[in-house]
Amino acid sequence: MPDPDSIAVRLQDVRLDRGARTILSGIDLTVPAGSVTAVLGPSGSGKSTLLAALTGELRPAAGTVEVFGRPLPERQRALLETRKGIGVLLQGNGLLTDLTAAENVALPLRAHTRLPRPVIDRLVEMKLHAVGLREAADLYPRELSGGMARRVALARALALDPPLMVYDEPLTGLDPIASGVIMSLIARLNATLGLTSIIVTHHVHETLPVADRAVVIANGRIVFAGTPAELERSQDPLLRQFLDGRPDGPIAFDAARREVA
Ligand SMILES: Nc1ncnc2c1ncn2[C@@H]1O[C@H](COP(=O)(O)OP(=O)(O)OP(=O)(O)O)[C@@H](O)[C@H]1O
Ligand SMILES: [Mg+2]
Repeated sequence: MPDPDSIAVRLQDVRLDRGARTILSGIDLTVPAGSVTAVLGPSGSGKSTLLAALTGELRPAAGTVEVFGRPLPERQRALLETRKGIGVLLQGNGLLTDLTAAENVALPLRAHTRLPRPVIDRLVEMKLHAVGLREAADLYPRELSGGMARRVALARALALDPPLMVYDEPLTGLDPIASGVIMSLIARLNATLGLTSIIVTHHVHETLPVADRAVVIANGRIVFAGTPAELERSQDPLLRQFLDGRPDGPIAFDAARREVA
């Protein structure tokens, strides 16, 4: 189990640009090891951009990103090494359609370890079992339901036993039952494997119940950081607009409008 006092991820005064546009600025974020943190925000607010900075895919224009006490390395080789410790569930799964579920889960093991085939096969079986899908090993992505495909992607993200998991919109396209399955799986894996999880999503009401901490981003910055209970109680008009799903309020509803504003 992780040391409860240790910090898994720390961002200090981070600014993230895409081209000439600043997407997020002044981002300070501390994620305690062992916790589940929900990063919430409306569509286009920069959630995926923030995740890209956590994995080193996007370099901050300013500020620092530390993972398990170390700044993300500048050098590509060292960065790839750090990334092995970060399991990523991509927005939209990213499964390879020509490979079976088991072959998809085996990919990171084949690419990053020299383990012999029978050992890889056994690990793949264990990962599929962990997400309740051992019987789906030989199915192709097109033969899986949306919820099953999401779980295969989750098993693949877990393949290298990363201590940190980041989930980008894990509920998109899932019905309420499949959403419940995925959220409880994320929470259970976090607890039983002693992970740290960051869930980026606009599915507030499904995510808050499993989160220890919540962060809300909107209009280019962090507008709330605290516990889920504090968030639910907040009377801040901007937070209420987001939580209650109202179209009009302090959050501009798309990027175009924000740029004009
Ligand atoms: N590779 C890129 N190049 C240029 N602009 C980008 C790129 N990726 C994202 N953006 C812009 O950055 C802004 C934030 O996008 P981002 O994908 O981070 O939002 P999001 O909160 O993840 O949205 P969603 O909830 O729809 O997934 C958007 O205005 C988007 O157009
Ligand atoms: Mg996104």
